[in-house]
Amino acid sequence: MPTHYRRDGDVALLEIDNPPVNALDLQVRVGLDAGLRCAADDPAVKAVVLCGARACFPAGADINEVASGAAFHSPILLELQARMETLGKPIVAAIEGAALGGGFELALTCHARIAAPEARVGLPEVKLGLIPGSGGTQRFTRLAGPAAALEAITSGAQLAATRALAIGLIDAIASDTVRAAVQWARRLAGGASLPALAREAKLAVPEPDLFAAFRAAHARAFRGQLAPWRIVDAIEAACTRPALEGFQLERQWYLECRESPQRKALMHVFHAERAARRVLPAGSQVAPLPIERVGVVGAGTMGAGIAMCFANAGIDVTLLDVSREAVALGLERIGALYDESLERGKLSGEQAEAARARIRGAVEYSALGDVDMAVEAVFEDPALKCQVFERLDRSTPPRAILASNTSTLDIDRLAARTRRPQQVVGTHFFSPAHVMKLMENVRGRASSPQTLATVMALARRLGKIAVLAGNCDGFIGNRMLQYYGAEAERLLEEGATPEQIDGVIEAFGFAMGPLAMRDLAGNDVGWAIRRNRALPADERWSPILERMAAQGRLGRKSGRGFYLYEGRKRRSDPQVLALICAVSRELGIERREIGEAEILARLLHPLINEGAKLLAEGIAARAGDIDVVYIHGYGFPAYKGGPMYWAEQEGLAKVIDTLERLAPSHGARWQPCAYLRAAAARGGWECLTR
Ligand code: NAI
Repeated sequence: MPTHYRRDGDVALLEIDNPPVNALDLQVRVGLDAGLRCAADDPAVKAVVLCGARACFPAGADINEVASGAAFHSPILLELQARMETLGKPIVAAIEGAALGGGFELALTCHARIAAPEARVGLPEVKLGLIPGSGGTQRFTRLAGPAAALEAITSGAQLAATRALAIGLIDAIASDTVRAAVQWARRLAGGASLPALAREAKLAVPEPDLFAAFRAAHARAFRGQLAPWRIVDAIEAACTRPALEGFQLERQWYLECRESPQRKALMHVFHAERAARRVLPAGSQVAPLPIERVGVVGAGTMGAGIAMCFANAGIDVTLLDVSREAVALGLERIGALYDESLERGKLSGEQAEAARARIRGAVEYSALGDVDMAVEAVFEDPALKCQVFERLDRSTPPRAILASNTSTLDIDRLAARTRRPQQVVGTHFFSPAHVMKLMENVRGRASSPQTLATVMALARRLGKIAVLAGNCDGFIGNRMLQYYGAEAERLLEEGATPEQIDGVIEAFGFAMGPLAMRDLAGNDVGWAIRRNRALPADERWSPILERMAAQGRLGRKSGRGFYLYEGRKRRSDPQVLALICAVSRELGIERREIGEAEILARLLHPLINEGAKLLAEGIAARAGDIDVVYIHGYGFPAYKGGPMYWAEQEGLAKVIDTLERLAPSHGARWQPCAYLRAAAARGGWECLTR
């Protein structure tokens, strides 16, 4: 049985036991319902304690049930809550581990909540495109006030027990949590009357412009999304409407969100992130190697960020560069980033101090004599990287894994320079490495299952979301991206403006359009990468990027690129349009008005074609892996599910149509590939990859 009922004197203990996270599925709800009835009917029972087995309060509803509709099979959570609130006996939640989502809504319905010191609570529904649907917004707001509710519920944050206590969500923190809850329950039972429930708590009148100010401050962050706005509406309703109406509105908005395409897309992402972790054949029993000490070679932008990722996860780092000056510069950069993390409240002073102390600098490879792994992050120069790998092979212990942070280069070529190709792998971090969630791990021809298992496990320890890619030029992300960048310039040549192109992509939900992105990375850098790349004979680069670089329009760093910059603020530059129009003239292209739909299709559909090729070649194992890469590495809006999922919703036939129109002028690589055609004919990617 997924619930256990037992007695501790006059207190009934109702324990939820549904591994792994005690999710509130139908069986659990049936068990809870029966347990509550038992407690109600037994005159010897004076109070009830709700707790979870394996020191874990329910960490949520069962998300598969939310999708399938089984969450609506009686007894639903709302019915259980009604039973709890009319039981006539005090109920206390003993929160160990994480009480999240429906689990926390259950706890909020109790008369009191006692949490373990390391417990976390929260309502993370927004991450799945939902709002809490069982009174979560209403009770949270009544206990903690609207300002705290807005912050926590729209972000889906998990709150530490101390914070939850400070804002009134829980009543006490106790290490022997269940025992403390039993005592608390007994004390309540001995009182003259039952304590007030959260739903009855009186709310202080909120500051008059609280909601308007919050909406304005988050307009950009929540743009295009449904759930965060509905959460704000629900919290406002808790403050301004009669209680019953607030609860009803919340439920109505929960159902609206549940039916929305955004909820479906975000659940796809949730499942895709988990599926991406599976990189070895089912049943394979390879244990990851322990990683406690690492070397990071190259103390530049990426090396510094990567060193921080390790140090923050409690791993000792030796940061190596060519000279004392370069190392000092790297350590200085790290110091500044820690100061920034402190300022933003991402780390406590103690955490930052401890992490910093784990990083030491070095200029001699002999300093890497005891590392479990080394990550190379030197300049993107194949000859240099080969040299570094030879030296790493000579100076690190034979057990150590050697990884490269290259964003495009051949992992097998680096592996061939070592006597341990089976321990060579790519670990492609994204910039800024201590912030960006994605780690695109790259499998070399010889990479052993243990090496792969180790870097996938490592990613989790670093708090990253990892995808395993095969070895090819650009791996998953950058290989797809080349089409996007090139097409933005072709659109400029034909008549679009930078504002128009970036506007369409930003309205779609990306944080930044392709040209603003170029300005951020530096047009000289973009041009240098392009110069080193051969194009097939039937393709051409637009001359726009080269001219931008030649004219010193390097982007943000020089104050002008596709836009003029004042700090982070961008402004249109008429001279850029003149440069673009001159290119159109030279190429004999008559500029025309280009519509939003065409811009979007031409920028995104070629990505899908390349994604299909990656699947066909086995570079990406699943369409969902590509979605995860694009969401966490390239700013694709998660609520649209990632490019491959989005394309399926759009209809793959439309993608094929765009490509067929582009290929004659763009080159044979732009032709829809066989895999894309097969997926379109069979109704989606799944039919081919399952
Ligand atoms: P960077 O130019 O900021 O840093 C490179 C560092 O490597 C410099 O400090 C340099 O002194 C050091 N170095 C050069 N030769 C060395 C040697 N033989 N031994 C030790 N250190 C040496 O470069 P960045 O941007 O950090 O890039 C590093 C790598 O990360 C490249 O492979 C790049 O493709 C990749 N990458 C870069 C991203 C970015 O956005 N900058 C994103 C993802 C990957």
